[in-house]
Amino acid sequence: MGEFASCPPEAVKAAEAVCGPVELKQVTDRRGSAVWKATGSAAAVAIKLGTAEAAEATMREASVLEQLPGYTVTVGHTREVVWFVSPWLVGRSTWEMFRVAREDAAGRPGALTAAVDLCRAVADLHSLGWVHGDLQPSHGIHTETGVKLIDFAWSRKVGTTPWTAFRGTMVHLMAPELADWISSGRQPAKTSPEAEVYALAGVLWTCATGSWPLDYRAAGINRQAAGPEGLRDAIATGRLPLARATSWPELQDVLRPVLLSQPADRPSAAGLGDVLAEVEG
Ligand SMILES: Nc1ncnc2c1ncn2[C@@H]1O[C@H](COP(=O)(O)OP(=O)(O)OP(=O)(O)O)[C@@H](O)[C@H]1O
Ligand SMILES: [Mg+2]
Repeated sequence: MGEFASCPPEAVKAAEAVCGPVELKQVTDRRGSAVWKATGSAAAVAIKLGTAEAAEATMREASVLEQLPGYTVTVGHTREVVWFVSPWLVGRSTWEMFRVAREDAAGRPGALTAAVDLCRAVADLHSLGWVHGDLQPSHGIHTETGVKLIDFAWSRKVGTTPWTAFRGTMVHLMAPELADWISSGRQPAKTSPEAEVYALAGVLWTCATGSWPLDYRAAGINRQAAGPEGLRDAIATGRLPLARATSWPELQDVLRPVLLSQPADRPSAAGLGDVLAEVEG
């Protein structure tokens, strides 16, 4: 573990223009991308910094936030780094919204509401013609006014290709057809709403069961030895079985067919939300 990145003074100044004098709290710093929470008396904001290989992704993310309705962003850069400031979203992640349900069936109604809310947020994004591209259990924040998605570095408007190469985001949530595209080496690979619905079902499966959807071991794969690229190549075959644990059968019975279907047979994000709204807690 290296030291946490230092926050550019220009970014702090941009935060203070919104919040008044701020106190910075380190949130994450991974692979050249760091996040701080900056809290002042008037407001709190997130400062995200991209350095080295993450600078381009951070610039793309800022550009997405500029284009999406309902998001505000201030962006700046030097020759080496890119940073942006956006409102701090107050709420729990989908992973946290499922915490009680993972431990106790009494938490299920609340988790189901969260699941439907996440589906609707993704459906809203899709209806605007956008694909998020990196849905994860921690990338939906359940605020008082609905779910807000974060981490748009690999988002694209359908019909545009904002990158020269896409090697995937969280491998455990990668749809087989996308894994196959990337494994074949044809670039630029592109995300799709259909692959996003796979990831959405995978996020909900993971939040419900506490484990990623696929059973690598049953397919004779050692996760550590395979590494992300080996897993991606295995996912590309479309033959990996789903985990057999059934901690929440009623929910898993809805998600299983989504994870097993061909892209054209998957429901839309809105359709998945509608089905989940009927599941009994
Ligand atoms: N606007 C925001 N409001 C509230 N929390 C935020 C916000 N932006 C980021 N976070 C917090 O910071 C964490 C990291 O943010 P984000 O996922 O955008 O960064 P990242 O560098 O891409 O991280 P990772 O590599 O883990 O995906 C989030 O999981 C969330 O907890
Ligand atoms: Mg992230």
